[in-house]
Amino acid sequence: MTASKDSVTAFAPAKLNLCLHVTGQRPDGYHELDSLVMFAATGDTITATLADDLSLTIDGPFADSLSMEADNLVLRAARLLDPDRGARIHLHKALPVAAGIGGGSSDAAATLRALATLWDMPLPTAAEVLPLGADIPVCMHPGLLRMEGIGEALTPLGPAPMLDIVLVNPGIALSTPEVFKGLRCKDNPPLPGDMPDPFEIDSWVGWLAEQRNDLQEPAIAAAPVIGEVLEALDAQPGNQLVRMSGSGATCFGIFEDAATRDAAAAAIRTARPDWWVAASEEWNL
Ligand code: C5P
Repeated sequence: MTASKDSVTAFAPAKLNLCLHVTGQRPDGYHELDSLVMFAATGDTITATLADDLSLTIDGPFADSLSMEADNLVLRAARLLDPDRGARIHLHKALPVAAGIGGGSSDAAATLRALATLWDMPLPTAAEVLPLGADIPVCMHPGLLRMEGIGEALTPLGPAPMLDIVLVNPGIALSTPEVFKGLRCKDNPPLPGDMPDPFEIDSWVGWLAEQRNDLQEPAIAAAPVIGEVLEALDAQPGNQLVRMSGSGATCFGIFEDAATRDAAAAAIRTARPDWWVAASEEWNL
């Protein structure tokens, strides 16, 4: 985060669900999850400047997908922190929307971090931000986290280790509720308790590969192109783990080093110039 007296810039990283097990459903319809979450150093940027009124402007490659109306998550996050204070907020939208990488949630969390600094206020708690969206608590404190409940029960596991990641989105927006509705089983086993030390990267990534994203199957049923994305990542030399994030459609590959990561990203970009492809590293707050 960079800050001067009257302006603060905060990064809103892409969220990756390294695995996501759906373990139950609550009476209110929300699903109980057991997920490992980390963040990638590709993302949006929020800049907040002191002003009398609250306002939002948006630019960047995915700006057209978003509304600047009062229901935008960035403005809702600002009003949650303090409904009476003003700021001129600018969002640079570099991540695809409705893409399973928590873009809107990460924007809201970055807004809260920026405004808490600008307005000299404490950050709200996970319980306070949960009504804005189930993914917002986990985006408040990027690192490596285990996320349970519907997204509010967080166990920080320290910083994410160094990883070489490729993210690929085929350019379709998926509705999260629709993907959850397509689940055939809502009662899957949680994560096993024997996770290796994340800094023993090979055995940790091997362990991750044995886990699942339970939303991958219903997402592929809704949008078969996700299967093509997974195959394209899987075909690249040096991949250690290939999986969909969140409710899709973005998928990621973890590669053995920066050279195989960059070669994979270049090959997929060449083969599918219509897809969004980002080569990245991990991101910790
Ligand atoms: O909370 P958020 O608005 O991000 O969630 C969008 C939708 O995704 C919810 O309305 C719900 O249908 C579904 N969802 C769920 N279980 C979760 C998170 C989201 O069923 N844990």
